[in-house]
Amino acid sequence: MGINLITIVSRSCYCGRKVRFQGASLSPLPSLNGRSRRPLSGQTFQVPTQAGLVEPIHLVQVDLPASRQVRELSLAACHPTLPLYRLGSANSVSETPPGPGSYAMPDGANTLAADFDADVAPLEDIDVSDVELWRTDSHWPLFERLRREDPVHYCRQSFFGPYWSITRYNDIMAVDTDHEAFSSEAELGGIAILDPGSELRLPNFIAMDPPKHDAQRKTVSPIFSPSSLARMEPLIRERAGRILDELPIGETFDWVDRVSIELTTQMLATLFDFPFEDRRKLTYWSDVATAIPGPGSLVETEDAKLAVLMECLAAFTQLWNERVNAPPQGDLISMLAHGEATRNMSPMEYLGNVGLLIVGGNDTTRNTITGSVLALNQNPDQYAKLRANPELIPSMVSETVRWQTPLAHMRRTATRDVEVGGKTIKKGDKVIMWYVSGNRDDAVIENPNAYIIDRERPRQHLSFGFGIHRCVGNRLAEMQLRVVWEEILKRFPVIEVMGEPERVASPFVKGYHSLPVRIPA
Ligand code: HEM
Repeated sequence: MGINLITIVSRSCYCGRKVRFQGASLSPLPSLNGRSRRPLSGQTFQVPTQAGLVEPIHLVQVDLPASRQVRELSLAACHPTLPLYRLGSANSVSETPPGPGSYAMPDGANTLAADFDADVAPLEDIDVSDVELWRTDSHWPLFERLRREDPVHYCRQSFFGPYWSITRYNDIMAVDTDHEAFSSEAELGGIAILDPGSELRLPNFIAMDPPKHDAQRKTVSPIFSPSSLARMEPLIRERAGRILDELPIGETFDWVDRVSIELTTQMLATLFDFPFEDRRKLTYWSDVATAIPGPGSLVETEDAKLAVLMECLAAFTQLWNERVNAPPQGDLISMLAHGEATRNMSPMEYLGNVGLLIVGGNDTTRNTITGSVLALNQNPDQYAKLRANPELIPSMVSETVRWQTPLAHMRRTATRDVEVGGKTIKKGDKVIMWYVSGNRDDAVIENPNAYIIDRERPRQHLSFGFGIHRCVGNRLAEMQLRVVWEEILKRFPVIEVMGEPERVASPFVKGYHSLPVRIPA
């Protein structure tokens, strides 16, 4: 039996909440058997607390690799009622010294997320939905392995329950374009890996199958037409310019808050003709809509989440009532209030569709704006190329949408037994199309891990999905990003990234909480 030090650090739970830990070491240790590091089942550990007292924790289930156990422990600390582990008073543990594959995080802590050695881990242990992998941006080698060895992969056990992973570009296309075998219907589980609680199952057309989906989508489509976008462009440009003109020069600030959020929020307010001074409420409602309730989360319980969403509904109902009694206008609420397929929607369905448009247009564009600054900083040759050739902005935007993949996945539910890539997916199974992986598939995209702003086919990516649900707002998103970059290049030769981004701990929204930047004086 080997004796090693174990340091207790802060980690994230599956719900995204950071769990802070006390204490410094843990002993006795399980033997670290080569790379597999499987502690013995039922072992008891002594954990010194901050006050120096030694308290026991008992692992009641330790047949998972060590890195997974660490995350299960975080889960138990964050959600003590979950029956995975029973702990004394401990929180979470991480091993030191770091083993092969482990890496230093920006804050100096070592994470075991990457320590889950992608090349030797048993395939059946791979769970790419683990939020820690997303917070630490360490999912890449796991997806690479799945694409190579088990492209249609079944994960039997995860926080989100069992699910299939579709990881290759062409298999994702096949699933996304077969809406009969693969349903988006909310009743069956909807479009994300997390099943919604029953009381929060808001109907909206992204989570509907034909014919209802098609009719509702048709109602809002005109706002995304080329002529409508051309009408909106000057206002978006003027608002973008104003945001950029107010940025501090020569000091570090958070790009996410000052630019990405503000720009997308202003765009949403424009789309809905929502009271401009209340626009940050849209951001808040969008964040609540995608938050997983839990201690420390934006909303702690499903009831609290519902209460906030009801506030959102009340505000939008008032706007609906104003617009339904006025002649049809070009804004989205007016379109829904007057549209044949949508004017008789139930309040929950209206809320669902408003929520869809807020979330659809919010997180995605916000994270692409942040991603563009990060990607150009990580690839200074591409940044220089862009400065020298501003006409590359549109293809840089598309390359960033691929590189970032702001929605890491979409989920479907199999409506019958169906074969994909030689595997039989059973009726009722949860199927995750990992766009983030398909976008790095070298069988389809040349040199996919590189960020190249003048690719030959920059719009060849999966980030907007395919088939009947392909993002209805994709041209609006591209227009907004193009306008922002045209305005940025007019003003600032360089935006420097000053530190690591803080990433969202979610396998669905792939984005950033913050990114420190500086515009040199
Ligand atoms: C870079 C920005 C964006 C990305 C990456 C993105 C991504 C996506 C994806 C992956 C889907 C589902 C596709 C599928 O299931 O096959 C989708 C659907 C949708 N998006 Fe976007 N989106 C973006 C911007 C926007 C914007 C700006 C809006 C509107 C304000 C929007 C509104 C929608 C709507 C309403 C749907 C549902 C379409 C349907 O079910 O028919 N999106 N988007």
